[in-house]
Amino acid sequence: MIIFEKIKETQEHLEKIKSKGLSIGFVPTMGSLHEGHLSLIREAKRENNYVICSIFVNPIQFNNKNDLKNYPREFESDIELLKNEKCDLLFHPSVEEMYPEPADEKFDFGGLDEVMEGMYRKGHFNGVASVVKKLFEIIKPDRAYFGLKDYQQLVIIHKMTKDFNMPVEIVPCTIIREENGLAMSSRNQLLSKSEKKQASLICESLKMVKIQTGYLSISEIKEMVKRQLRRHRSMKIEYFEIVDMYTLKPLMTWAESNHVIACIAVYVGKVRLIDNVILFS
Ligand code: PAJ
Repeated sequence: MIIFEKIKETQEHLEKIKSKGLSIGFVPTMGSLHEGHLSLIREAKRENNYVICSIFVNPIQFNNKNDLKNYPREFESDIELLKNEKCDLLFHPSVEEMYPEPADEKFDFGGLDEVMEGMYRKGHFNGVASVVKKLFEIIKPDRAYFGLKDYQQLVIIHKMTKDFNMPVEIVPCTIIREENGLAMSSRNQLLSKSEKKQASLICESLKMVKIQTGYLSISEIKEMVKRQLRRHRSMKIEYFEIVDMYTLKPLMTWAESNHVIACIAVYVGKVRLIDNVILFS
């Protein structure tokens, strides 16, 4: 696996790869890789001739200084994991390389960023879009792979590529879970053993939501989830929304949409976790 830190050397190398007619699959990450990330790499390997992963903890998408400081960093073991997957190239730029000047582009997501994550993490999606756009411009992938776990991010990146006519296919990938159902996340390693056990309740609640869809009203389902998670004092729901899968508009009744997803953000102790389940599409 080749590792590059500089934009210019990456671009020069990729020009040679493209001139051979090879297709390029790209998996952007912030590192501290787990099976969720690796599933994206595997999907990219299946569908492309050449696979690139980026590891860059993007400071401008963190709205909280402590979250950025505490974000896990495991570069050496990440390299080994990527080598095992036969990833072809790792792009690992510094902050100065990515942002020689402060990033000041302002995106219009047509309201997609005004709900859920966007309500609680101001500026987060602008920071995500800034870095992903820049990475796409450097790498010019044919396909880019994003996890459904960060569903709102996926929808927003998809819109950005359409708005800027970027010739890249955005490929959504299923959520990979721990044995107890907890969606894999780099942040899971910040949980204590008992918190990890409690966190499985998030996915349990979402399973209940799926079972009760159509039987209970949306407000009854919201009450049910609140009741279930309130049982543990260390867990605090930040939001639980049932939204249209495309507009992300919160729904009041089931009849309002044929494509529906339930999304949740929960604090387990100090660690913020997100998860979701598609109810029907
Ligand atoms: P990061 O949190 O490292 O995630 C990188 C990619 O892995 C994202 O597309 C995310 O949805 C996916 N992913 C994470 N956990 C997953 C799981 N359990 N199952 C399936 N996919 C999973 O998301 C980011 O980084 C950043 O915002 C980034 C897009 C790299 C921009 O900085």
